[in-house]
Amino acid sequence: MQGSANLNLMIKAARMAGRSLVKDFREVENLQVSMKGAGDFVSRADLAADAIIKEELLGGRPNYGWLAEESGSEVGKDPTRRWIVDPLDGTTNFLHGLPHWAVSIALEFKGEIVSAVIYDAAKDELFFAEKGQGAWLNDTRLRVSGRKRVIEALFATGLPFGGRSDLPESLQDIARVLPACSGVRRMGAAALDLAYVAAGRFDGFWERGLHSWDIAAGLLIVKEAGGLVEALSPGNDPLADGALIAANAKIFEKFAGILRT
Ligand code: IPD
Repeated sequence: MQGSANLNLMIKAARMAGRSLVKDFREVENLQVSMKGAGDFVSRADLAADAIIKEELLGGRPNYGWLAEESGSEVGKDPTRRWIVDPLDGTTNFLHGLPHWAVSIALEFKGEIVSAVIYDAAKDELFFAEKGQGAWLNDTRLRVSGRKRVIEALFATGLPFGGRSDLPESLQDIARVLPACSGVRRMGAAALDLAYVAAGRFDGFWERGLHSWDIAAGLLIVKEAGGLVEALSPGNDPLADGALIAANAKIFEKFAGILRT
């Protein structure tokens, strides 16, 4: 796909940050034996990736706004456009030496995501999409799965940790979904969960309590691959709400019906 100048800038930034993270990830794998210091090291890796992306994106488009997990938000001179960035989605995986984490970058225009990149640098998988142009994994066009039966479907989710108050709701979700399907995975990187729905690896995904930087890019990639995304509460904007359901269009209503019971 011949991407726009903005998409190419996003891809360049994601690859640069990815290279830096891969280098740090090798170091983290060595640090597993001496846990001391691994947390601080990962925070620094995350911040370094954030700085690389910020310099690249705001260097190229100084008027755009900015929202990122690590460096907060800034309104740009152009208030209609904003970068939404998670430099390292799947931080806990990274910290534990699990190669399942990604850089996530989205461009929002007038409140809508128009370009998206999710880069799994450890596996060199680049997921990207532009509004109306389809979704891609490296050179291959993406399509969501064609599975129609929930009982045959594999879903992904995320669970709240560290004393978050929405644990009972999430356990209730699991209790509803698990008996009705062929499996539920908790992989630990919401951006990749959404990318995998777009790639047909998962038939659907849901999670509560996500931030916009976790999901902005993934929302567009799923939609451009032919999938549906809605907030768990019908009618809400999934990006603002942070509790969302994504799935292939054939299964969506039944899957959402189970979660919304
Ligand atoms: C986290 C991951 C995880 C999800 C958490 C997120 P982070 O993002 O996406 O899968 O369950 O809710 O906070 O902190 O690694 O960028």
